[in-house]
Order: sequence, then C-alpha cells, then structure tokens
Amino acid sequence: MLLEVRDLVIAYGNLEAVHGVSFEVEAGELVSIIGANGAGKSSILNGIMGLVEPKAGAIFFEGKEIASLPAHRRARMGLRLVPERGVVFPYLTVLENLMVALHGERDRKIVNSRLDWVYGLFPILRERTNQEARTLSGGEQQQLAIARALVSSPRLLLVDEVSMGLMPKLVGRVFNLLQSLNREQGITILLVEQNALASLRISHRAYVLETGEMVLEGKAEDLMKEERVRKAYLGI
Ligand SMILES: Nc1ncnc2c1ncn2[C@@H]1O[C@H](COP(=O)(O)OP(=O)(O)O)[C@@H](O)[C@H]1O
Ligand SMILES: [Mg+2]
Repeated sequence: MLLEVRDLVIAYGNLEAVHGVSFEVEAGELVSIIGANGAGKSSILNGIMGLVEPKAGAIFFEGKEIASLPAHRRARMGLRLVPERGVVFPYLTVLENLMVALHGERDRKIVNSRLDWVYGLFPILRERTNQEARTLSGGEQQQLAIARALVSSPRLLLVDEVSMGLMPKLVGRVFNLLQSLNREQGITILLVEQNALASLRISHRAYVLETGEMVLEGKAEDLMKEERVRKAYLGI
C-alpha cells in the first residue's frame, strides 16, 4: 500500500475537524475524497503533507510511519501537494516557479528533461515560460500549480479542490488532464473535491466525507449509483 491513514484526528484548538478517519491509496490508483465545504478535506491533506499536526492517528507511506516527520522530509519521500486555489508565486515567471520546485536538483540534464516533460504535458506553459504567474488566467495558474508539483517526480500527488474557482469549461479539461496523468503517466493521485461528479468520473475509488467522518466508500462507479451520493452531491 502506498498510503495508509489510520484513525486520523485533526483538531484546531477545541474544534475537532476530522474525527478519526481511515483510508488508503494503492500505487497507481486515482482515489478521491468527496465532501462539502468544511467537511475536513483540506485538513486531511495538510495532515498527510505535514502542514498541520494530527492530534491522533497514524499515517504510513510505503509502510513507513510518517506522522512524526516534518513536511520537508515527507516532500523528500515524494509527497506533493497541489494546494487549494492552485497557489503559485505571483511575481515569479512560469519557469522560475518550476525552478523553485526543482530546487536541490543540480544535474542540468535532469532539470532539462523534467522541464521538457511538464512543458510537454502543459504546452500553454511553455508558451508562457517567461511571463509572471500573476498574468496567467485562472486555468493556466491551476496548470502551473499542478506542473510545479509534478516537476520533481512525485510518488503521490495530493490535489486540493482543483475545480474551485475554475470556469465549468476548464474544470473538465483539468480533470481530464489529471486522469491522463494517472492512466498514461502512472502517477498515483489522491484528490479531495466538492465537485463530486467530476471527480467520481475519473476516479477508481472514492470516499465520502461528512463533517469529519467517512460515511461511504467504494468504487467510483458504484458510488455514483448510491442514493445518498446522488441526492447530496450529484443533485439528481
Ligand atoms: N487553521 C484553522 N483554524 C481553525 N479552524 C480551522 C482551520 N482550518 C480549518 N478549520 C475548520 O476545520 C473544519 C474543516 O475545514 P477544512 O479542512 O478546510 O474543510 P474543507 O477543505 O473540506 O472545506 C472547518 O470547520 C474549518 O472551519
Ligand atoms: Mg478545503
């Protein structure tokens, strides 16, 4: 198992946001956690990445317990987060944003081949390479945020609500891109989303998170048929 989360509890002061959730992701899978605003999705991803300290629970990455490691150690093990709203450095160019993510990689050949690879995946970014990130459209910034997470060859890509703030037309494109990263490039992805339909469509498996608790799990195609999911998340 690539990622195994057991009884994870996340609290902010007296407010417990995540009440002991367990789930897992196998290498090669695309898994999503769907849930409404405030359900605890970002808290879970930030807990896995080491940006918030869990109150209790265990997180295993490739069988190693990582919950006590600092974020940079987890990053070095190959965990990458595409943060909510695709945060990029606004005053750095596209290329500089990517170079920051490659920091530490000294081998010029490796740097060039990684850049070539992400520019091949996101041709629009190659065209914008010397433009400041703040001048990109929302969809382009989201692509840059994904490219930045990808450029250092992650073992597991954590994606926080990639659909937020994107025009409906772009949501489809970005989700198709995530699907092809998984199916064609073999990248393991854990998505958290409010957009249940778009994420279930591309996922192998999914979990439903309600106010800090996992209430359902299963194959994405089966969850799409569940009454509870259809009513609450698909509006059908
Ligand atoms: N830094 C924080 N301090 C206090 N409360 C927080 C913080 N981050 C999130 N919360 C609270 O935790 C709950 C879950 O939030 P979050 O994980 O952001 O949910 P989601 O990503 O599903 O919208 C919410 O009630 C939110 O207000
Ligand atoms: Mg969130």
